[in-house]
Amino acid sequence: ARVKEAEFVRSSARARDCPKDDRPEFAVLGRSNVGKSSLINALTRRKEAALTSKKPGKTQTINHFLVNKSWYLVDLPGYGFAAASQSARMDWSSFTKGYFLNRDTLVSVLLLIDASIPPQKIDLDCANWLGRNNIGLTFVFTKCDKVKKGKGGRPDENIKVFQETISGLYPEPPPWIMTSSVTGLGRDGLLLHMSQLRNY
Ligand code: GTP
Ligand code: MG
Repeated sequence: ARVKEAEFVRSSARARDCPKDDRPEFAVLGRSNVGKSSLINALTRRKEAALTSKKPGKTQTINHFLVNKSWYLVDLPGYGFAAASQSARMDWSSFTKGYFLNRDTLVSVLLLIDASIPPQKIDLDCANWLGRNNIGLTFVFTKCDKVKKGKGGRPDENIKVFQETISGLYPEPPPWIMTSSVTGLGRDGLLLHMSQLRNY
């Protein structure tokens, strides 16, 4: 499950502009600022493979990265960006939902959840939507290195509450993993998980 090379392939503004290819892919999804682009950079060990920012709303298109010339990581725009205009938010749902429902090569959605804050309704809604549409899903908890004082400041507790909240949504609880793009926690485990899902 090693990453030997990773190359940026294309930014697509619409689902139908994505690469026409039968190689398997994993979509990286989550709230704005949850750490999607940072995770892709940590997985590929490239600082600037995907552009990151402290300001939410950095990634606005569907971005395909080809790993080891054999599978794709896909960076998606974040959802739940309160400052985005109404029309930008509408676009998000139509274009990203179109991608999920029509991308036959999608192996699993990596749904990123910020473990440094308590569960957010919008993440539960998203998990619910993916579950109802039978889209394979892996929970990737991000920012597990961040521990703050006070209620809701502990990643392990936030994760436990999240798991309890979603437990009724699926016949089988989806796989999940704790990660940090700062310390590298979970990197190898997630690469191994993805290689098992691809069957090689
Ligand atoms: P959008 O493209 O706006 O949807 O955001 P994104 O989900 O791609 O987030 P991005 O990777 O740009 O990271 C947002 C901020 O969180 C940046 O300031 C990152 O440095 C920080 N960040 C990301 N991952 C981690 C992590 O594991 N730990 C800590 N402490 N900070 C992180
Ligand atoms: Mg991003």
